[in-house]
Amino acid sequence: MRGTKYKVLALLKQSKAIVSGEALAKELHVSRTAVWKAIRDLDKMGYQIDHLANGYRFISSNVLEAEEIAFSSLLSENILIEKSIDSTMNVAKLAAMNHQATPALFLTETQSGGRGRYGRPFFSPEGQIYMTLLLEPNQTFAELPQYTLLTAVAVALAIDEATGKSCSIKWVNDLFLDGKKVCGILSEAMSDFETGQISHVTIGIGLNFSIKPEAFPQELQTIATSLFPESSPTITRNELIQNIWRNFFELLDGLPDTAYLDYYRNKSFVIGKVVNFTQRGVNYTGKALRITDAGELVVQTTAGEMTLSSGEVSLSTIDGKQLK
Ligand code: BTN
Repeated sequence: MRGTKYKVLALLKQSKAIVSGEALAKELHVSRTAVWKAIRDLDKMGYQIDHLANGYRFISSNVLEAEEIAFSSLLSENILIEKSIDSTMNVAKLAAMNHQATPALFLTETQSGGRGRYGRPFFSPEGQIYMTLLLEPNQTFAELPQYTLLTAVAVALAIDEATGKSCSIKWVNDLFLDGKKVCGILSEAMSDFETGQISHVTIGIGLNFSIKPEAFPQELQTIATSLFPESSPTITRNELIQNIWRNFFELLDGLPDTAYLDYYRNKSFVIGKVVNFTQRGVNYTGKALRITDAGELVVQTTAGEMTLSSGEVSLSTIDGKQLK
């Protein structure tokens, strides 16, 4: 049974207009004081509610809510939201082992052990977006869709729509806005020894939503940004999250259409740039030539053309800005 505050919230959301404290109390068969307390709790939780002379009006919400994120491909009962956990990747994997229905989405307000590629720590303060989608493809590795690229495109579309700016993609899994990293994607797979197939895939997204530049740790201030670093967000996190996964499932349903690859290439700022990378302990430098249909990066090095299927490249400049 949901508490009074959620009932008050539901009525305010439904009505969209101003609702008096008296009307709320009458509708819910509670006292005016109970309504007042419920509103105070909702304010504290991050719901934005206008307090007007003649009542209350719901404005928007900064609270992650399964009902606001859900859509036809991702049902609210498969959206799990935590206040604080170590990593949504770990929670999703544990859920997979416990036969979680899929697709399922795991979100948290903050992570104590957020991780990026190569086990690097991922800065995860409150108020941003940390989520992992759990899928159950049951396919061989070779048959798997290019989940990381699809996700990068899904996020890029949602970012551009939300900000009115044009973000770019750094092959293979980073999104940049105004020359700084705004989002990282981490895809991992779980295999089934008996069938030799990939039973589960976890796709993690860490997206800086609204952080003031000075709130980043010193070492990240020159290289990281958020969608709304100074201005108030024009979209709620719930809406943005829904847009991302809606885009993702549309792209997935659209396969084998490869239009998303052209979009990825157009957004990709490494092409034509000099990149550095390491393979089997050897450092290489070369010009990034193209991204293949399999999502690999082809680089012209002094040792000839080299095709990178995963891994990481580094650049010395991004959008004309010198990197450390
Ligand atoms: C990277 O930049 O290397 C990838 C970063 C991925 C971070 C996200 S945040 C949600 C999910 N949980 C994690 O621990 N990592 C991913």
